[in-house]
Amino acid sequence: MSDFYLTTPLYYVNASPHIGHAYTNVISDCMARFRRLNGESVFFLTGTDEHGEKIKKAAEDCNEDVEKFVEEKAQTFKSLWKQLNISYDFFIRTTEKSHVDVVSKVIKTVYDKGDIYKSKYRGFYCLPCESFWTESQVKEAAGCPDCKRDVEIIEEDNYFFKLSKYQEWLLEYLKNNPGFVKPKTRYNEVVSFLERNTLEDLCISRPKKRLGWGIDFPLDNNYVVYVWFDALINYISGAGYLSDSDKFNSLWPVDIHFMAKDILRHHAIFWPIMLKALELEMPRVIFAHGWWKIGEDKISKSRGNIVNPLELIKTIGVDGLRYFLLREVPVGVDGNFSWSAIINRLNSDLANDLGNLVYRTLNMAEKYFKGVVQVKELHIPERFKPHLDCLQNDYAASMEEVDFSSALDKIWKFINIMNKHVEDTKPWILWKEKKLDELNSFLFSLLEGIRITAIYIYPFMPSTSEAILRQLGIDNDVLSSNALKDVAFRIGKFRVKKEEPLFPRIESESSD
Ligand code: MSP
Repeated sequence: MSDFYLTTPLYYVNASPHIGHAYTNVISDCMARFRRLNGESVFFLTGTDEHGEKIKKAAEDCNEDVEKFVEEKAQTFKSLWKQLNISYDFFIRTTEKSHVDVVSKVIKTVYDKGDIYKSKYRGFYCLPCESFWTESQVKEAAGCPDCKRDVEIIEEDNYFFKLSKYQEWLLEYLKNNPGFVKPKTRYNEVVSFLERNTLEDLCISRPKKRLGWGIDFPLDNNYVVYVWFDALINYISGAGYLSDSDKFNSLWPVDIHFMAKDILRHHAIFWPIMLKALELEMPRVIFAHGWWKIGEDKISKSRGNIVNPLELIKTIGVDGLRYFLLREVPVGVDGNFSWSAIINRLNSDLANDLGNLVYRTLNMAEKYFKGVVQVKELHIPERFKPHLDCLQNDYAASMEEVDFSSALDKIWKFINIMNKHVEDTKPWILWKEKKLDELNSFLFSLLEGIRITAIYIYPFMPSTSEAILRQLGIDNDVLSSNALKDVAFRIGKFRVKKEEPLFPRIESESSD
């Protein structure tokens, strides 16, 4: 079986990472961990986009040498990913020689094919977004369609990539492959954009005299490569396109590219056409998620409303943050970021439902049986069965569809039924009446249910999953691979050791 290959965008290093960047990497990590749990071998690529005018300007603003600046910023991304438990396999930086070599090679190949030419360029350019826009787009948005700021008119000789030549092919490809861009709303947007507009060829060079911080344009040393053309190529350079053809062949085509809707056009139009020109297979899925917003505004550096994930982690913990991001909204939709939403979610789902279930079950196991609970005959409570069946049948499908909130919904229904089972069974009465066999079997089924829950929540909250297994006395090797194949109820013995509650309640004053 070939590896499951997934990617995130390469983040600009002009500023430190914020919650929006963290979101894409948390989604991607959740998918990567699910795939590993499902017995698949995974290659998870992330990294940083380090060229272009705005990066150079950011370095100058800090009075720093640009190379040193990008190095430091790349480290801040790496360090955040470490804290957030992002299990990437390779971190690519666009300033690395191995990437630069691939960009040169791609340009030469595409040029030899006749898909790059030199011509005069006149257009509307947004410096902060590093994007060119057509006159009609600028008119309609009264500025840059992305960040709303003023755009500049630029006129100069440049090199162009023949996007227009492939427009019909791309439209046809999209029509024949309706799952190519997800979710459906984004697919429809791309199709209707291509039906209603004529693609202009993409200007892929920048004169060095205007913009020096980029990869040398291999055909003409008066130019550097346009940062988007450079950055998109990471998806093949990071997979060993030139350096390791065995690796590349086992990885390509990519299984899923994750990004937000702001850069869908680059991924669903430029990138497939670049791949077509290179005669490479198309990605299987391009998935554009929504934006985290505060009020009506997207969270972004340019809007000055960023939320620092490191600060949040201090108050709600890594898994608290991961859970909130993955649970609060379905992946394709916009989410509203607010402290009250975080408190509600975490106190109710994590502290009350999951945390309480684990704590009280282990507490009973220690109090009534000194932590050792074992059965020789399997008894699965009737009310557990539909939930277990539903998880066994549908969890993987929801995860594959990136429908994380629905997968969590199924897990939480099971958690809540376990809590209800405790309340209805009233184990303290069984204890009083010395019905020890019944009590033992009741506790065993809860511990089994918790063990199974720990496996299902692993992609979302890996540390919590490990902490639960540790308290159940189970080696977390069970999570290493293929755990989903072995998730049914079974007979056995638990030797548990209760720890502190998994999720302390968050007080609302914590937001101050
Ligand atoms: N460097 C380009 C991407 C090149 S990929 C070959 C870029 N970088 S970026 O730093 O601006 O990152 C954009 C991405 O960050 C979005 O597509 C999304 O993945 C993530 N997000 C940034 N802000 C976000 C929100 N407010 N909400 C959700 N995701 C956000 O574009």
